[in-house]
This record gives sequence, C-alpha cells and structure tokens, in this order.
Amino acid sequence: MATVIDLAPSILSANFAQLGADAKAALDGGGTVLHLDVMDGHFVPNLTIGPPVFASLRKTIPDVTFDCHLMIENADEFIPAFAEAGANWISVHQEACVHLDRTLHLIESHGCKPGVVINPATPVHMLDDVLEIVHHVLVMSVNPGFGAQHFIPNSLKKVETLARIRESRGLEFRIEIDGGVALDTVGDIVRAGAEILVAGNAVFAHGDIRENASKLLQAARSAAAVKAAPRLRRTATAPRSSKSDLHRRRT
Ligand code: DX5
Ligand code: ZN
Repeated sequence: MATVIDLAPSILSANFAQLGADAKAALDGGGTVLHLDVMDGHFVPNLTIGPPVFASLRKTIPDVTFDCHLMIENADEFIPAFAEAGANWISVHQEACVHLDRTLHLIESHGCKPGVVINPATPVHMLDDVLEIVHHVLVMSVNPGFGAQHFIPNSLKKVETLARIRESRGLEFRIEIDGGVALDTVGDIVRAGAEILVAGNAVFAHGDIRENASKLLQAARSAAAVKAAPRLRRTATAPRSSKSDLHRRRT
C-alpha cells in the first residue's frame, strides 16, 4: 500500500498577529495536519501557547487535525484542557514523563490520539514498551525549543529503525519528524520512512506560505513515489538475477 504523506505546518514560525490567516494559507497549500508547539520554559528554553490559543484557532479552523506537541514537564495537568480546546493528537516527550504509559492512556481517555516524542539524544529503544499503544512516534530532528535550526542527520537512522521495528512487530504507529524539514532534507527524510512531516521555517518564514507548503508536499510525495517504485517493479516483474546478470550490472 502506498505511504500516506502528511505535511504538518508548525505555527511556531507563523506571524502570531495573523495566526488564523497564516495557518489557513499553509493548509490551502497542502498542509493536512496543523502542528501546535506548546513550550513551558522549563522542559525547553522557550515559551509559546496554551489552551486559549488552541480554542481560538479551532473556531477559525473547525475541521483540520490539530497535532499538539507538548514540550512541558507536567503534561498530565494540561492534557484535559488541550483536549477540550480542540486537540486531536497529543504527543508527550519520553524524557519529560515519569509515568509515560499512564500519560499516554490519559490522552486516549480524553478522546485524543496519543503520540510519544524522543529528543535527538534519546535512543529509539527507550520506546520499546509503549510502541503498541501509540498512534504516532515523533522523532525530534533538532533539539526542541526553537524553529529554524539545522536538521540532525542521525535522526534518519532513528526513523529507519522505527520503520523496521514497526514491520517486524506488526505494529501500526505512524512516524513523524520535527525540525529542519525543508526542500533540501525532505527527500532523505521520506526515504528513511517518515510519513508526517512537521515544517515551520520552510513554510512560514519566507515568501508565499501557500506555495512553500505546496512545493514541500510535492517534493515529499515525489520521494515517496520513487521509494515505492522499485518495490513494485521487483514484486511485479523482476525474475531473480543469475550470477552473470549481477556481474554484468556491476561492470
Ligand atoms: C521545535 C518545534 C518544531 C519547530 C520546527 O522545538 O517542535 O515544531 O517549529 O521548526 P522548523 O521546521 O523551523 O525546524
Ligand atoms: Zn513540534
């Protein structure tokens, strides 16, 4: 089955004086999920938005999936308020949750899809025991806190590892990536196996928001199509190569 690619514009890089209009432009350009970064100034060195901003945006944009990325220490205290304000997906950091399993179930009990996030220095195996209960795993490809940082290439290995684990354990979680997603990185990111692509700077910071979103989504979908193509050809037609075939190809 073809991979479904979602572009999740991150409003962190939008103009907050015209948040609704900027968010709508990114969705018009092809954004399929709206990514909302919540920071507390403790877990990460920055402050952003809380439930009232979610609720206002929800009135302006009633239908699209709100992907709430909590970069806060006391997630359990705020999950009910974010759910009430219109979040559909809520993800929490493995590093910030002492009782991660409980927190993920709490998210679900409020009618939202639970996601778990890992920072660049956290290995994938820290998630072994929650992969069965999450809707998505978010791999941070920058250290969280700010937009417009450089993509950390090691994140690609983590995405590949997650895709392999998902396959071998027959699980269904989706793989999301956040940080430094742009035209020059998105091909490798999609080829590694990421399906939900968070992008702030590349969508909102310069030029036309609609056009930026559209080009990024197009680049991602082209990479996904190329990734799928050899698999289709192999299964549809290719006979097994003889030794001499292989030799001819190598020379
Ligand atoms: C960073 C946030 C990101 C941020 C990504 O802590 O979680 O969602 O907006 O920004 P870009 O796409 O600019 O790297
Ligand atoms: Zn984020």
